[in-house]
Amino acid sequence: MNQPFPFASIRSQFPALTQQMNDLPVIFLDNPGGTQTPAAVIAAMSDYLAHDNANRGGPFATSQRSDAIIEEAHAAVADLLHATSPDEIIFGPNMTTLTFSISRALGRDWGPGDEIIVTRLDHDANITPWVMMAADRGVTVRWADFNPDDCTLDMEGLHGLLNERTRLLAVGYASNATGTINDVATLTRWAHEVGALIFVDAVQCAPHGPLDVQALGCDLLACSAYKFFGPHLGILYGRYDLLDRLTAYKVRPAKNKPPHKFETGTQNHEGIAGALAAVNYLAQLGQADAGSSGSRRQQLQAGMEAIQRYDQVLNAAILTEMEGLPGVTVHGITDPDRLHWRVPTVSFTVAGQHPAAIAAALAERGIFVWHGNYYALAVTERLGLEEQGGMVRVGAVHYNTLDEIARLGAALRQILHAPTH
Ligand SMILES: Cc1ncc(COP(=O)(O)O)c(C=O)c1O
Repeated sequence: MNQPFPFASIRSQFPALTQQMNDLPVIFLDNPGGTQTPAAVIAAMSDYLAHDNANRGGPFATSQRSDAIIEEAHAAVADLLHATSPDEIIFGPNMTTLTFSISRALGRDWGPGDEIIVTRLDHDANITPWVMMAADRGVTVRWADFNPDDCTLDMEGLHGLLNERTRLLAVGYASNATGTINDVATLTRWAHEVGALIFVDAVQCAPHGPLDVQALGCDLLACSAYKFFGPHLGILYGRYDLLDRLTAYKVRPAKNKPPHKFETGTQNHEGIAGALAAVNYLAQLGQADAGSSGSRRQQLQAGMEAIQRYDQVLNAAILTEMEGLPGVTVHGITDPDRLHWRVPTVSFTVAGQHPAAIAAALAERGIFVWHGNYYALAVTERLGLEEQGGMVRVGAVHYNTLDEIARLGAALRQILHAPTH
């Protein structure tokens, strides 16, 4: 049974959504760069600092409460990703830093003759850490391409790159530039068939649908809490046996077991408290569907499925608004039958107009969007758009409304001097 999406109550939980400009509500479509946070996340972070603030492992109350919150946060994120154990969840400053760190730990075992695969569809945070590790270790880097017509991964080409020398495939789950969702389950199977590991960048997928590392069978998966309604905090999942056998770059007094050995230094405790609240917020969205006896994992599954269904509506609405706009090219999947292979992150260019000018014109109208390459540099280079300022990116999440998307369309028609509907 699917409950209707509890829309009004969702928006009322996000204080930022009440901001106004020129007497109109601000429209946040900059979400792929970072989402807004519900009041419960803000409260969890300030409560932590007000009442629980301490370092870990002490015999006194604040330290014990800090330990409990941080352990609960590991368990909550394990539920979000469907990890088998909270010890498979590593917190860190952001996805990029965690990826640099794990690439070093993995690369210690690799050298000349070994190969890794990265893709041109990825954010640079899932490219450069691997390329730099490979340069340090004498490992060969193979590049998987994407089809510029619809910005989908060249699966056949990628399959051809995998061989018995491949040690790792680093791939994105959803592109932060084009919105493309990759078939990570198939890619995981292919990587494992040749004995390679797979690292999945799920940063842009996490706010848009259920994640399940067990169903995927992936070895490593990274995301960032600030992209799924939490604070600025990175998250790395790793299969326990893999994390356990890797050598971490850590100080001697730090514990030698996962996740502690990869959580270097004192962590961002208030951020971790906020991430716990963000996961609980998402679980609460699925409470009605999962039933009163549903576990947090079941609630998360139901909540994220509801988000996924609504995101498809947003996806279609954004693309409909783009249709027929003079000079506009959408870079990504536009075929209505394949929308389930994209998240509602839509990048476009306008012939003869700089992306920065379009973003600025929208900003003047209270509509916040990104422009440029958003660190998906390989994408704008491959599309030949880097020298022209990249693309304009509109990224919706579950708190955006169809009215907001209609206002975006009207603003674009005004900016581009197109006829109004
Ligand atoms: C797909 C993707 N991967 C990685 C990152 C980097 O994440 P972080 O800012 O947590 O390092 C981003 C950030 O925009 C992203 O969109």
